[in-house]
Amino acid sequence: MPDIAKLQIGDNSYEFPLVKGSENEVAIDIKTLRGATNGVITIDPGYKNSGSCKSAITFLDGEKGILRYRGYAIEDLAEKADFLEVAYALIFGDLPTKEQLEKFHADIKSKSIVDEDVKKIMDAFPRNAHPMGVLSSLTSALVAFNPSSVNVDSEEEMYNAIVKIMGKFPVLVAWAMRKKQGLPLNYGSKSLGYVENIMKMMFEQPNEEYVANPLIKDALDKLLILHADHEQNCSTSTVRIVGSSHAGLFASLSAGISALWGPLHGGANQAVLEMLEAIKEDGGDTKKYMAKAKDKNDPFRLMGFGHRVYKNFDPRATIIKVAADEVLKDLGIEDPILDIARGLEQEALNDPYFVDRKLYPNVDFYSGIIYRAMGIPVEMFTVMFALGRLPGWIAQWKEMRENKEPIGRPRQIYTGENLRDFVTAENR
Ligand code: ACO
Repeated sequence: MPDIAKLQIGDNSYEFPLVKGSENEVAIDIKTLRGATNGVITIDPGYKNSGSCKSAITFLDGEKGILRYRGYAIEDLAEKADFLEVAYALIFGDLPTKEQLEKFHADIKSKSIVDEDVKKIMDAFPRNAHPMGVLSSLTSALVAFNPSSVNVDSEEEMYNAIVKIMGKFPVLVAWAMRKKQGLPLNYGSKSLGYVENIMKMMFEQPNEEYVANPLIKDALDKLLILHADHEQNCSTSTVRIVGSSHAGLFASLSAGISALWGPLHGGANQAVLEMLEAIKEDGGDTKKYMAKAKDKNDPFRLMGFGHRVYKNFDPRATIIKVAADEVLKDLGIEDPILDIARGLEQEALNDPYFVDRKLYPNVDFYSGIIYRAMGIPVEMFTVMFALGRLPGWIAQWKEMRENKEPIGRPRQIYTGENLRDFVTAENR
């Protein structure tokens, strides 16, 4: 592989260095393009061909269906690690020793109390507010309750901000769900593991002791691990770009939550279940909806199918499909929605439209099914995604600040009016 790229514009030629990653990914470094060419820029809406940064956190190869955090295969992490270990690895670079993990967990627990006044903000939201909006607002509100800005050059200050958000965020998640269900806003127990405690905070009823089903705890651990990072996706890029203006961690995370909310990103897991419900209500005719998805005059898309980077299969979907089968079998769940899901999956996997465009079920197609079996309301699905993605966002924000990346500020090609005369209101 050569180490320069040549660009010819008219009679002028320019050379740009090639940058290679540790997995032999190659990019053309065009930092000097605009200056050298007197104003020429590149344009790539949706950034399908543009790298925004160098990153040592997550490697994914969409063609081969590879996903690794800090060099560890997602299959190994999902099977052998728990969510907190994975969070530590993402944020600090490697899996923790037993002592490091214990300290991390203890520090998180010690920072998990949320100011009681946050409950007043919570109270002011209407019961039917979408929990993603509530979560984004409350994460932003945490800035007001924790106003000191983080000196990113201080390892200690960075660490404190990280354990604070790792402690408080699950509380906000649980409260967002309980508020919707009219349940008291409670805390878990310091004696429980990170994920078990989240389950207690979410599911405990005021009049009975909560005991977590180990199979469900295991499935939730896996789901959170599978969602924990995914390199420069929409919400992560948002967190990095907001943080690049030196906005604080909590403010950047709040923006990331909003980005995740959309149905083309994290909101897809809710959209999948809503789509399955709608198909059921309409008589369960999957063929009709397959035809709609293929009709270019119909805006309908098969939610949970397709992915910007995975063009053969989504390795997370492979893992979660097995977990979904186990949970449903263990809980003895018979659900017509699942039959519709299986029907769509089979039809899409054998339909030339989907095969030719490499549209496979993504992680969201199955995650919603497990969340439903766990008794999590549909509107909370994307919140669960955010809970899993939290360590990834933190890791990416931290890396961006440590690498002293410049403020994110894309260029544009202007296509509007040229200079024209101003016409006063009475003459328009
Ligand atoms: N149903 C029907 N057709 C589809 C679908 C779908 N779900 N997804 C893509 N296509 C078609 C497009 O119409 C297009 O067809 P064409 O080439 O004939 O014009 C072709 O496949 C390529 O689609 P793009 O939108 O260009 O692909 P892109 O990579 O930009 O989009 C995306 C990826 C947004 C995920 C898309 O597949 C989609 O909308 N899927 C449904 C939503 C979803 O499940 N999102 C979750 C993503 S995973 C995550 O965020 C964790």
